[in-house]
Amino acid sequence: MDLVIKVATPDKQRGACVVVGVFESKKMTDAAKDLDRLSEGYIKSIISQGDMEGKANTALLLHKVPNVLCKRVLLVGLGKEQEFKDSVFINAAQAAFRALQNTGTTDCALYLADISVHERDVAWKVTQLARFSIESSYRFDKLKSKPDENNNALRKITICIRNRADMAAGEEALKQGAAIAHGMNLTKDLGNLAPNICTPTYLADQAKDLAKTYKFKATILDKKDMEKQGMGALLAVARGSHQPAKLIVLEYQGKGKKEKPIVLVGKGVTFDTGGISLKPAAEMDEMKYDMSGAASVLGTMKAIGEMNLSINVVAIIPATENMPGGSATKPGDVVTSMSGQTIEILNTDAEGRLILCDALTYAERFEPKAVIDIATLTGACVIALGNVATGLMSNDETLSQELLKAGEQAVDRVWQLPLWNEYQDLLKSNFADMANIGGRAGGTITAACFLSRFTKKYQWAHLDIAGTAWKSGKEKGSTGRPVPLLTQFLISQANMSK
Ligand code: BES
Ligand code: MN
Ligand code: ZN
Repeated sequence: MDLVIKVATPDKQRGACVVVGVFESKKMTDAAKDLDRLSEGYIKSIISQGDMEGKANTALLLHKVPNVLCKRVLLVGLGKEQEFKDSVFINAAQAAFRALQNTGTTDCALYLADISVHERDVAWKVTQLARFSIESSYRFDKLKSKPDENNNALRKITICIRNRADMAAGEEALKQGAAIAHGMNLTKDLGNLAPNICTPTYLADQAKDLAKTYKFKATILDKKDMEKQGMGALLAVARGSHQPAKLIVLEYQGKGKKEKPIVLVGKGVTFDTGGISLKPAAEMDEMKYDMSGAASVLGTMKAIGEMNLSINVVAIIPATENMPGGSATKPGDVVTSMSGQTIEILNTDAEGRLILCDALTYAERFEPKAVIDIATLTGACVIALGNVATGLMSNDETLSQELLKAGEQAVDRVWQLPLWNEYQDLLKSNFADMANIGGRAGGTITAACFLSRFTKKYQWAHLDIAGTAWKSGKEKGSTGRPVPLLTQFLISQANMSK
């Protein structure tokens, strides 16, 4: 996809298609008015006829509009003007791309960035348009013998703005939106891949590829290295699998060596059967997405590499399968984590926290400014927040506020749950320092409580993406979340330390 930004008005626009917005109650945007004037009231007549009522999520494609140089004009409904908020803006852009599918439109000029959106500047709108332009053309047909019939001829999108003064910020915003989308594409590909292909070794190879492209430092720890580090919890999960486990580390240095890094830790369970505490068969295939935390960390690394962001970031990915087998960990086993704390594994399906706790201890060596872990950790989080918000838990109020804000900005939202001490009691074990489960009640919080015992030495936030990383059912597929959130957070951090 070719993406450009320029200063233009639609009356002089040539090409395959020009996209302009129309509000409810027949109110045209400036760009629509331009075309209406040029076509001597043609657009207005279409609206008056009731063919385009301006309702949100609607679009109407017009051909051969009088005096207009463009082959097509796409009218997009924007809903009520006073309700035109960020989500409606994004829906309008998506409706536009949907309407252009199955048409011969090869290029289009979007006149949407000038429409005022409550509390959002032009840069924000350009970033979103860039991101959703690229997102709209995402397909996953790598595993089919013939590629899916391509119903999208769109190759070039021009984001048009009116004001030359917005151009510098617009260029920057476009680059950010494109980087976010490219990162998301990688995250989606890794998630959607079959679990016999996307193994811990495959993830390590992907990390090495990224390291080559963007000049990251890559370190891959295998079983022997992990034994040396004393990562008994991570290794306990890997025991049942024939696929070798990996601890993947990427280091990106966009700033001076002295600058403390942000560390991202992503859960990389490439398939979660539950282990000896086996999961039921229905929908178990979706546990190939249990490496979505890892995939989002790699996607975010791609995005910051592409932007050359001036910040230091370290990615740590504990990667393994969780399988039953003759040498698999059993309920009741007690293991010693890298931190020295012992854990009674009462349920082998609570494996995410076991691999994360050792990765979080490993993170200490980077003297982090903050550590964020990202994990498809609990089914309970899907019950609590559904598929809309990612769960956020943290030991630092400033960090949580920054993540909440980045989520709003990136339209990739998080919602905070408490980490009060009262919940810690649920992890008591009669035989070890702690159990790996706390019972059904407050399952998302007790999982985070478990992690909090390994993150005392730094500012830390935990993102539970069990409900947001992928979609089930007919539209089954990775969402690429929370790459927008993480990338936005890092952009804001880089701006703050400028
Ligand atoms: N990967 C799962 C969590 C999950 C389940 C995410 C369904 C998305 C959809 C995790 O490893 C798990 O199995 N968690 C258990 C924890 C329980 C045994 C305490 C769960 O949530 O049931
Ligand atoms: Mn599990
Ligand atoms: Zn899992």
